[in-house]
Amino acid sequence: MERSMTLTVNGKKTTVVTDPSRPLLDVLREELHLTGTKYGCGKSECGACTVMIGDEAVRSCYEDVGDVEGRPITTIEGLSSGETLHAVQEAFLAEGALQCGYCTPGMIMRTVGLLTVDPSPSDEKIVSWMTPNICRCGAYTKIMRAIRRAARLMSEESSR
Ligand code: FES
Ligand code: FES
Repeated sequence: MERSMTLTVNGKKTTVVTDPSRPLLDVLREELHLTGTKYGCGKSECGACTVMIGDEAVRSCYEDVGDVEGRPITTIEGLSSGETLHAVQEAFLAEGALQCGYCTPGMIMRTVGLLTVDPSPSDEKIVSWMTPNICRCGAYTKIMRAIRRAARLMSEESSR
């Protein structure tokens, strides 16, 4: 049954009236028009729909919107500060870590989740962390480079 709920998305509170069991991904895309978050499989198998909830990278196709009410949700649209890209976005651009770009928002959000828990991950950690996210174009080598670059950039930023 539909009900009104307040979501905090990219730092702004917004009210939606919907079924609380609806996937967060659908609400982001269809109600809030935040279409940067992609639908890939709808079954928690590809990572295209990854967003941050608090400090955690989660699959929004598998998260009921009613369960995330009151928690801070960040989508790819909320990562940059105005014109200034997030370090992970900068790194993906600098390394050209995409082909069609469909998986890229999910890859970037999952990388943000990784660097939140481990700012200086080993290559093994990067591979194991990122393995659940699928790139059908096979841009994995450049994605690895981008993640290493993002870790360096973020470490430089934090030491300034
Ligand atoms: S669309 Fe959510 S994991 Fe594939
Ligand atoms: S760049 Fe096309 S799916 Fe990853």
